[in-house]
Amino acid sequence: MGTTFFVANWKSHKTENEAKVFLDRFSEKTFSPNKKIILCPPTTLLGFVKKYIEEKNMFSLEVGAQNISEFSEGPYTGEENARQISDFASYVIIGHSERRKLFGENDETIIKKAKVSLGAGLIPIICVENDLFPLRALRSEILMVAYEPISAIGSGKPDDPKNASNMASKIKEIGKFRVLYGGSVNPGNVSSFTRADEIDGVFVGGGSLSPEEFSAIVENG
Ligand code: PGA
Repeated sequence: MGTTFFVANWKSHKTENEAKVFLDRFSEKTFSPNKKIILCPPTTLLGFVKKYIEEKNMFSLEVGAQNISEFSEGPYTGEENARQISDFASYVIIGHSERRKLFGENDETIIKKAKVSLGAGLIPIICVENDLFPLRALRSEILMVAYEPISAIGSGKPDDPKNASNMASKIKEIGKFRVLYGGSVNPGNVSSFTRADEIDGVFVGGGSLSPEEFSAIVENG
C-alpha cells in the first residue's frame, strides 16, 4: 500500500500560541505508518512548528511553506527565498487559487517558483484547477499536484470523487506526479477521495485548523 498524504494549509491563521495549542492536542499515535502529514503554517511559524515536531519526535509530520519568492537572494524586500525556506520546510505550496486571484500569480510565476524551489531541494505542491499548463512545463520534475476546483474551496461543496479521480489520471499522464484532491475535505468525505486509486492524498484548508477535526480526517482517510 502506498503512502497517503494529508496537507494542512493553515492559510493566514494562527499565532505561535495558537499553533502550540494545536500541536499539544494533535495526537498522531493512532495513525498508520503509511500516512504522511505535511503541515503548512504561515511563514512566521515555520521555525516554531519545525522545532516542536522535532523535539516531540512527531514522525508522521513534515513542514511545508505556503509561498516562496520567485527570486533568489537579493534586494527583494518582504520576500523569502528558496534557500531561506529550505532551512525550515521540505515542501512548498505554489499557485494556490487565492494567490492567483488576490496576488496576481500566473503560470509564469508558478513555473519560476517551482524551479527555484526544486533548485533548493524543496518539493513543490502545485495547485491547479483545469489549466494544466504549468505542469507541462515541469513534466520531468518530482513534485506534487493538488487538484482543486475553485467552486469546492471553502464552500462545503466538494467535487465528485469520480471527477477528481479522472482529473488525477489526466494529471498523471503529464508526469510522474503524486496527485492530491483539495476542496471542502472533511472527516465524512475524505475516504471517498483517498480510496480512489489515482488520488494519493488530500489538501485541506478549513478542516486542518482544529486538531480534533484534522486528526479525524487523517484517521478516516
Ligand atoms: P478548504 O480549502 O479545505 O477550506 O475547502 C482548500 C484549500 O485550501 O485549497
